[in-house]
Amino acid sequence: MKKYFVVGNPIDHSLSPKLHNFWFKENKIKAVYDKKKTNEKGLESVISEVKEKKINGINVTVPFKKLVIPYLDKLSPEAEQTQSVNTIILNNKNLMGHNTDIIGFTKAIKNLNFNVEGKKIFILGAGGVVPSIIFALNKMNVSKIIISNRTKKKAENLKSQFHNLDILNWGDIVEFDMIINATSLGLNKESINLDFSKFGRNKLFYDIIYNPTETNFLKEGKKLGNKIENGKLMFIYQAFEAFKLWHGIEPNINADTLKLLNND
Ligand code: ATR
Repeated sequence: MKKYFVVGNPIDHSLSPKLHNFWFKENKIKAVYDKKKTNEKGLESVISEVKEKKINGINVTVPFKKLVIPYLDKLSPEAEQTQSVNTIILNNKNLMGHNTDIIGFTKAIKNLNFNVEGKKIFILGAGGVVPSIIFALNKMNVSKIIISNRTKKKAENLKSQFHNLDILNWGDIVEFDMIINATSLGLNKESINLDFSKFGRNKLFYDIIYNPTETNFLKEGKKLGNKIENGKLMFIYQAFEAFKLWHGIEPNINADTLKLLNND
C-alpha cells in the first residue's frame, strides 16, 4: 500500500488527508494519506523515507516550506524562484521539490470573474504561502503589489526575492483593487483592525483561509459591497496538481469535492 503524508506543525487543521483519500477511493488507488506532525529536527528523517521508498510522497505545509529545501536534490523552477516547496516526489532517485501553491492560486483567481491584470494588490501577511502568491500575481501582470505584515522584517525580506514590492507598516492602509488576507487572523474568529470603508465598492476581498468559510474579513468586505472569495479552491487546486504529479491522474473537482471540505 502506497503512503503519503502532509508534514507540518501544527497539522491538526489540515484537510489534505480527507481530500486525497477521497480521490484515492474515486480512482481506485491503493494508498493512504495521513498527517505527520514534526519539528525542524525531524524533517530530514521524514524526507529520507521518501528516498528509501518507505513514503511515496509528501505535502509540506507551514512552517516547513522553505526549511525542506536543503534536504532535496532538485527543485522545479517555480519552487526555486519562490524558495517554497509544498510537494515532494522521488524522481529517478532524485528527491524533487515542487510548488503547486502557485498554480493553485492562479487557477482559483482565473476561476473568478475578476481580471487582476493591471490591478493594484494589497497583501496582508508575509508567511509561508506569500512568495507563491506574489509569484503568481506577477505572472498575471498585476500593476503593483503592496505588502503589510505585523513583523515588518519578514515583509522586507520578501523584497530581496521580489523587487517590485511596496512595504506598508502594519495597521496602515492603502487604496487597492484586490486585498488578500494571508495572515492567520480569522482562523479563530479574529477580525483585522483596518478600516476598509473609505475605498468604495467592487473590490475583491480574498482570504487564504477557507475554514471558517467566511472570516470576519470576508464578512466585512461583503457588507461594504465587494466581491469575496475564500481559499478553498486554491487549496483544492494545489492538491489536484500534487495528485497529478504523484499519480499521473487528474482527479475530479465537483460539488462532492467542495462539500467534502465544508467543515463549519
Ligand atoms: P509562518 O509565519 O510561520 O510562515 P503562516 O501561518 O504562514 O506562518 O503566517 C502567519 C501570518 O499571520 C504571518 O504573516 C503573521 O505575522 P508575523 O510575521 O508578524 O508573525 C500573521 N499573524 C499571525 N497572528 C497575527 C496577529 N495577531 N496580528 C497580525 N498578524 C498576525
